[in-house]
Amino acid sequence: MNKQNFPILGLFLFVFCLSTVSYSQTAKGGKKISTDLLGLFFEDINYAADGGLYAELVQNRSFEYNMAERHEWNPFSYWEFVSPGHSIGYISVETKSPIHPNNPHYVEIDAEFIGNYPQYKGEAGVGLKNAGFDGIVVRKGEKYNFSMFAKQLSNAPINFLIRIETPKGEILSQNSLTISDRSWKKYSAELTATANCDTAFLVVLAKTKGKFALDMISFFPEKTFKNRKNGLRADLAQMLADMQPRFIRFPGGCLVHGNGIGNMYRWKNTIGPIEERKEQRNIWGYNQTAGLGFYEFFLFCEDIGAKPIPVLPAGVSCQNSGGTHVIGGAGQKALCMDDMGEYIQEVLDLIEWANGPATSTWGAKRAAAGHPKPFNLEYLGIGNEDKITAEFDERFRMIVKAVQEKHPAIKIIGTAGPFHSGDDFDKGWQISNDMNVPIVDEHYYVQPDWFLANQYRYDKYDRTKGKVYLGEYASWGNKMKNAIAEAAYLTGIERNGDIVQLASYAPLLAKKGFTQWNTNLIFFDNLNILPTPNYYVQKMFMNNQGDLYFDKVVTKEESSNLLAASCVQDSKTNDIILKLVNAGTEAKTVKIDLTRFKGLQTKAQIEVLQGNNDDENTFDNLHKIVPTKLAFNAKSKFNYTTPAMSLTVVRIKTSK
Ligand code: AHR
Repeated sequence: MNKQNFPILGLFLFVFCLSTVSYSQTAKGGKKISTDLLGLFFEDINYAADGGLYAELVQNRSFEYNMAERHEWNPFSYWEFVSPGHSIGYISVETKSPIHPNNPHYVEIDAEFIGNYPQYKGEAGVGLKNAGFDGIVVRKGEKYNFSMFAKQLSNAPINFLIRIETPKGEILSQNSLTISDRSWKKYSAELTATANCDTAFLVVLAKTKGKFALDMISFFPEKTFKNRKNGLRADLAQMLADMQPRFIRFPGGCLVHGNGIGNMYRWKNTIGPIEERKEQRNIWGYNQTAGLGFYEFFLFCEDIGAKPIPVLPAGVSCQNSGGTHVIGGAGQKALCMDDMGEYIQEVLDLIEWANGPATSTWGAKRAAAGHPKPFNLEYLGIGNEDKITAEFDERFRMIVKAVQEKHPAIKIIGTAGPFHSGDDFDKGWQISNDMNVPIVDEHYYVQPDWFLANQYRYDKYDRTKGKVYLGEYASWGNKMKNAIAEAAYLTGIERNGDIVQLASYAPLLAKKGFTQWNTNLIFFDNLNILPTPNYYVQKMFMNNQGDLYFDKVVTKEESSNLLAASCVQDSKTNDIILKLVNAGTEAKTVKIDLTRFKGLQTKAQIEVLQGNNDDENTFDNLHKIVPTKLAFNAKSKFNYTTPAMSLTVVRIKTSK
């Protein structure tokens, strides 16, 4: 099957007759479209999680960095052993008696001599210093929560100073604590910064002679998104919340199926107390702490009113697996059949964890984490753009069958390879259709012209087969021409919201200087957030979703892929929403006919995103391209001149 191939002539006719094509719609007009249409794709790529959305400020907090992740890394990376005031001490990384087997490394320190010599300035002590992810940002008056696991290895309790220090050694905050237990115990302290610093260090200094062990040294801002413990960076999370996504897909991306079979994302390793989670190198070549794990993903979804869409591996690793880190050789590798029973149980357990009562085995773990009520999981992805091999086929079918039998209400999402067409695409759709999988995940990264030329792709999709989740897409680039081509495509997604159930741009987040993928929706560093023009397009569409689609509302005078439009109604508010896209270099006028809608209110609002083809936002000019909101007088019929290279959203209220 090749769903997207339809005759070129048909394409032209369709373009020309934009105003005359009819869709199956309800009597009063308006075709029902997905109420979950537009949402977010989250993957820990480009330091999106650790050092990004996850608010932890300490890097390598549990000494698990290792050479297998990066040849220059070791368990002590991003830490410095300090012994100010001519103190003497020894440090070693140990594994013999960890907090938990999932978290094997910790440090032992022997503070042999705390040198209080008057000729040495500064506080004497023996301990550690962490530089965070490119420095720790602290703000005057803000509170920070320090915690560490420690055990006393010599006879007497040990006193510590916990400090925020500037690069020059100025102390911006200090607190103290005493460890007095011979087994692992969590100790906490609160610090309030007395000044701003963008490149601060966290210092943990023993003030008493003696031997001790430390692990899971953590430092969080008190102000996380919604003030959650183990929470998210507030400004970044707010950017995502502001989009009002209907869903969030997580944890990826290729990170799901992983670099080799041992690197697949196993959700059970990412829940429970953070000191018991299993860190691993992610497929993008750096460590993931799993501090932002499945519990936090589900909670974030709930906090912003988005449906959770977890994606689990289909029992095979990424076909692009390779490099020196992969055990078992390059290419796609499959779980052996002996392991599939256990793996399928892991998939079923996720559904129980998310939806089961607090009295069920896995529901109890969710409740213990602080969420006795179910999370109401509705969708579940199996596989991520896998190569459709016989091994994939067999395992995918086994997993799908088990979920269908045990949880028939769960909407499974199948997978159709990494491209918009081709062998994997056809075979992926075929298997999912065979198995009555209700939704299939398509991925494509292409040039902006492709989006303009293919904006009618879904008009001819077979409505009797599975629905589409356009799970990853982007045009290559973050300039206006990319964003506007995506906007034109999104009008086609809305028009086909009866067959396209879900759509999400990818990737979402990228940290400046730490990217593995160049085109992303939001760039950031420790201080700033850079929304791309593509972000604003996504936000304008997501903020203005509807559940009914109307055709024959917007008429363009010429047949051109450069002009695109859609009209939806949100039946909760009764608002009529028009999206008008001009991807050309000249302003163009379109005719709008709203006579079918009763009770139109003339005072409307428009939001316009406009720029030149190559305009983009940069860290030097974060807000060069931003949408503007204007009051607008709507009539039942009017002409609207779309500016060159623009997206306009017109929102008009109607009485019910
Ligand atoms: O979005 C970046 C990557 O692109 C995803 O991890 C993968 O699924 C796709 O190839």
